[in-house]
Amino acid sequence: MDTTRAPPPSVLFLAASLLAAALGWLIVFAARRPSRRRSARLPPGTTGLPLIGETLRLISAYKTPNPEPFIDDRVARHGTGVFTTHVFGERTVFSADPAFNRLLLAAEGRAVHCSYPSSIATLLGAHSLLLTRGAAHKRLHSLTLTRLGRPASPPLMAHIDRLVLATMRDWGDPAATVRLLDEAKKITFNLTVKQLVNIDPGPWTESVRREYVKLIDGFFSIPFPFAHLLPFTTYGQALKARKKVAGALREVIRKRMDEKVENGGAKGEDDEKDMVEELLDAEGGTFSVEEMVDFCLSLLVAGYETTSVLMTLAVKFLTETPTALAQLKEEHDNIRDIKGKNQPLEWSDYKSMPFTQCVINETLRVANLISGVFRRANTDIHFKEYIIPKGCKIFASFRAVHLNTEHYENARTFDPWRWQSKNKLQSAVGASLFTPFGGGPRLCPGYELARVVVSVFLHHLVTRFSWEEAEEDRIVFFPTTRTLKGYPINLRRRSDSVV
Ligand code: HEM
Repeated sequence: MDTTRAPPPSVLFLAASLLAAALGWLIVFAARRPSRRRSARLPPGTTGLPLIGETLRLISAYKTPNPEPFIDDRVARHGTGVFTTHVFGERTVFSADPAFNRLLLAAEGRAVHCSYPSSIATLLGAHSLLLTRGAAHKRLHSLTLTRLGRPASPPLMAHIDRLVLATMRDWGDPAATVRLLDEAKKITFNLTVKQLVNIDPGPWTESVRREYVKLIDGFFSIPFPFAHLLPFTTYGQALKARKKVAGALREVIRKRMDEKVENGGAKGEDDEKDMVEELLDAEGGTFSVEEMVDFCLSLLVAGYETTSVLMTLAVKFLTETPTALAQLKEEHDNIRDIKGKNQPLEWSDYKSMPFTQCVINETLRVANLISGVFRRANTDIHFKEYIIPKGCKIFASFRAVHLNTEHYENARTFDPWRWQSKNKLQSAVGASLFTPFGGGPRLCPGYELARVVVSVFLHHLVTRFSWEEAEEDRIVFFPTTRTLKGYPINLRRRSDSVV
């Protein structure tokens, strides 16, 4: 569930299951312990079974098609938007209160900081943006925003357009069956590699991708102690794969450094710089190779699952809502009519897709790819009549807010029209409820890029193809949100489509 980077909580989920099994006998004798006895001023709640707490209840909820009751029932029981529980081995305060969530996001680096288990930190690398703090984080975050937050640049739009079309060209003609999630992952991976090291899809990207997939699996596995000595475990294989992916990136970075020395530090056009070039020039060229490797690797990891699942679920929701699909098609057919059939999409085209943005917002709201974020209190935090003590873990649930009927009418229904410009969701209050990309100092630096990629993908999909589900598929939430079968669809090329 948490899953900024989707993985961490899932690992914890699984580790906690294991722990739970080992301590099964305790369950029999355990009694519920109200947390209030231990600390009168913590938000109300129960800490459940000894050691295991309420972890198994949380996991069970997320294994059903409707995980909401875990949070909703506790919020209703205590009559407050925050409650205390005990999950993944720690007392944790859960927040379903949008105001408190915003406060937590804004307080990153001051009253709170984000924290990950060491198994995740090892896979990410010590210099990953997700792990750095303080001034170093500020500098790296702004550098990432500079690079990723520029999807308006013509070369980047052109890369996205080309990569999406190249993937679609590999689909059969006139008909094909594909697992949409796999295709979306190819696009996302190839695009990120292009941005990081300016390498087009080919043998190098394929060999790195093979290892990379094993690395990603590691985030969803049980991190056994001494896993590096157990290469047959998923986590052990992920550690090996990390070495290989890091090795491949290191080689490219070293080569670039040599070239830079040979060329006397000549720079390319600002717009065409890739991330490595950006890093080589940043801060007087003081980043070490290992810092650059970890940094690139963390970017490769952070946007992969999220963007791919967003693409897949947008298509699934549209398929299940034919009126929305018809309106989306009309929007994109109009763009094509104006542009002509072979013209690549430009920034101005992206800016004339208002209904597409409603579809993306609504997919983000309903799907909650990142259901919330974990933080740790750096100091005692006062909220309403409660005090959350220094050191306590806090989970800000975005999902609980996004699916709350007080904020969104028929909250569980996919209704892209709710985001149309005259709607109150466009107001400042509406915007403060909607945090699919987090906020504050750790606001996702890929937020605009993800939107652009999905918009371009939808454009080419609806203007070139029609489709139906090849098999029934459903959304699952454990260990992360995705569809069970990767959404297999039967595609047919539209007779008027351009290959
Ligand atoms: C639908 C797509 C995406 C969603 C829903 C999403 C969501 C998020 C969220 C909620 C956070 C904040 C985590 C926190 O506060 O602890 C975050 C952080 C981050 N995201 Fe994304 N993200 C998406 C796509 C991307 C893409 C495409 C990239 C880059 C290629 C990316 C890179 C990052 C990085 C590097 C961070 C860490 C920022 C930091 O700690 O300073 N994300 N993302």
